[in-house]
Amino acid sequence: MGNQLFARKPLALLLEEMAGEHRLRRILGPVQLTSLGIGAIIGAGIFVATGAAAHNVAGPALMLSYVVAGITCVFAALCYAEFASMVPVAGSAYTYAYATLGELFAWIIGWDLVLEYAVGSATVATGWSGYFQNVLAKMGVQLPEVLRLSPWRYDATVGDFVTTGSYFNLPAVVIVALVTMILVKGIQESATFNAAMVGIKLAAVLFVIGAGLFYINADNWHPFAPYGWTGVSFFGKHVAGQTDPGGSPVGMLAGAAIIFFAYIGFDSVSTHTEEARNPRRDVPIGIVVSLIICTVLYIAVVAVLTGMVRYDQLDINAPVSRAFQQKGIGWAEGVIAAAGVAGITSVLLVMMLSGPRVFLAMARDGLVSRKFFGDVHPRFRTPWKATILIGCGVMVGAGFGPIEFLLHLTNIGTLLAFVIVCAAVLIMRRTNPDAERPFRCPFVPVVPILGILSCLLLMFSLPAGNWWRLLAWLLIGLVIYFLYGRNHSVMATYLAHEISKHGVSPGGSLATDIEVDPRADRKD
Ligand code: ALA
Repeated sequence: MGNQLFARKPLALLLEEMAGEHRLRRILGPVQLTSLGIGAIIGAGIFVATGAAAHNVAGPALMLSYVVAGITCVFAALCYAEFASMVPVAGSAYTYAYATLGELFAWIIGWDLVLEYAVGSATVATGWSGYFQNVLAKMGVQLPEVLRLSPWRYDATVGDFVTTGSYFNLPAVVIVALVTMILVKGIQESATFNAAMVGIKLAAVLFVIGAGLFYINADNWHPFAPYGWTGVSFFGKHVAGQTDPGGSPVGMLAGAAIIFFAYIGFDSVSTHTEEARNPRRDVPIGIVVSLIICTVLYIAVVAVLTGMVRYDQLDINAPVSRAFQQKGIGWAEGVIAAAGVAGITSVLLVMMLSGPRVFLAMARDGLVSRKFFGDVHPRFRTPWKATILIGCGVMVGAGFGPIEFLLHLTNIGTLLAFVIVCAAVLIMRRTNPDAERPFRCPFVPVVPILGILSCLLLMFSLPAGNWWRLLAWLLIGLVIYFLYGRNHSVMATYLAHEISKHGVSPGGSLATDIEVDPRADRKD
């Protein structure tokens, strides 16, 4: 059993699998991949989370929070890019972990990525709902109170969740259902739709920066860091900086842990590797270019917003559009809110596109049901069953989950995935120094080590409850792995075959020469 848990998937097999049937269509070029990256990155983070993060956690120092989170993501992005160029198949960090750290770690990270994408989608849908309701309000339409919000929200003045009086968030549920239907139909349509949305979103962001510049009052940047510069706790034990009444860390660093959400998405470019025309070159380009563009835009947006409106007067639900209303430019509020709706929709689209593809990769390895999660629709060529299942889960989260709860959980799950990817680059450089690396992460081991440390720091800057929720999720995953995945694993069949043939196990070495097709005799 030990051998199986740490058995690594041979690189040659990963590459060979790309050639089989049930492949996704190779239709994405570098511009589309960068566009998918931007489509996945700029969304609820900057349009929604910025308000509460500046208001309650960091003040104008949120500008620096964006710098810290951006640098953290650059370290991780360089590691992702190396892997994406080396192992250009669907599955992202899951696949990388299988090739380097073995099956158990691969399972953990695959399960963790499903959390990231599903809970992240629910977060984004909730943010979408806020902007959508802003647009409706501009048109004089108001939804019934009981259908507008999650039943709970975080109240920073008491440091706890309080009830809202709503039953569930209807617009969030409806948008998730619509996006699920689009995704079942196919990526070609989705990529085109995404490109249009990205255009609108970039125009909105540039408008906010360009128009907002004229309304900056530098006095609003004082005090610059009203909540301090740090904000770190260790499993609930306060370590540095201030806390809110509920004991959650606040400060510039704590702000970075929250708005880290705004950067999530560049990693999803790597889940589309299998659909890329020239994955080795274009996927690293897509990841790095989209991240750089977004970092620059974010810092500018936050500088403008906190310069326009004092941090403690920023709106919590739709801070970007409302800032223009607060300055008396009502028409701009409507335009930005409408663009925000479009922009956040594109994030939802890409996030919901990614989750089923991780499951698809896991299904091909037999770790989850191949019949269900590995079923590519004969006509649409999409993993339709997994898409619908995840869509249903996201609807529940979006309808009932408070946005802060969903956002923090997404962040901690994603940060864990980044830690594992950075570690995997270090390991792979040792175990496979000669493997072909069309893109090499620079300054190894410094960059991966800094990536690991900065991600861990941000994880500890999140409220401690998130650690327990993450561990609970991983525990559920391990139970499923030991009950199902381990027994149906394609690698297990391969190892058993090798042992019966040679009397010894290959011990998980990263073979480059496969004699036995480990996918023979697979069980579903
Ligand atoms: N980065 C994405 C957003 O901000 C998840 O919505």
